[in-house]
Amino acid sequence: MKKNRKPFVAGNWKMHNTLSAARTLAIDVRERVGSLTEVEVAVCPSFTALATVVDVLRSSAVGVGAQNCHHEAKGAFTGEVAVDQIADLGCRYVIIGHSERRQLFGETDAGVARKVRAALDGKLTPIMCIGETLQEREAGRTFEVVLGQLDGGLASVTSDELSRLVLAYEPVWAIGTGKTASDEQAEEVHDRIRQRLREKHGAVADAVRIQYGGSVKPDNAKGLLGQPNIDGALVGGASLKADAFAAIVLAAHQ
Ligand code: 13P
Repeated sequence: MKKNRKPFVAGNWKMHNTLSAARTLAIDVRERVGSLTEVEVAVCPSFTALATVVDVLRSSAVGVGAQNCHHEAKGAFTGEVAVDQIADLGCRYVIIGHSERRQLFGETDAGVARKVRAALDGKLTPIMCIGETLQEREAGRTFEVVLGQLDGGLASVTSDELSRLVLAYEPVWAIGTGKTASDEQAEEVHDRIRQRLREKHGAVADAVRIQYGGSVKPDNAKGLLGQPNIDGALVGGASLKADAFAAIVLAAHQ
């Protein structure tokens, strides 16, 4: 099925790579997929490597994003990084509300909503992550949890702004576990997310990219990315190897 949304594949490098390793990986990514225009591609290194990776990818089609931001524009927030500081480096994206931040750093839907607001105001594309834990799925609460996070995180987003935002459905039980959601399991949730966007915001819901994340690998990417409501991937482990990441990007190019 042909979708009228441009697929978007992003690599979340998490807390990996020294500066020189990040530079090497970025060069390798650039060589493999740097001139591809049919798929939007981005990498999200640690803050420490952002400037260098932006520099490496400057003349390519690959964008760069941060993995987090603070919701205030500036101030006495030791250790935090503002949206303007990220945008000023030449970054285009920021991941917000990743499940690791929700689970390990106490991020709430209200906090996620403030960061989404800050990113949109600061002209960065937020990649807002939502997803249920295994316990929640087994208790039959997947839709309730995912749609609750969706509504909570988008609390201040208007229908006009919606298409500037990217969503990532990442079931927590599939992250870093090698256990991927089946094509059908993932599509079912993506479809439900889009229905909710349609109920609240109308036709613009069809322009919103919803990435899938959770153990996406070259061998399962084609099936997942071929689903009608899956518009790309947010890739963790496999994005640390340029060949695997490039294979996933090419799978989106179908
Ligand atoms: P893995 O691809 O390593 O499961 O990580 C997914 C993820 O958390 C991307 O944000």
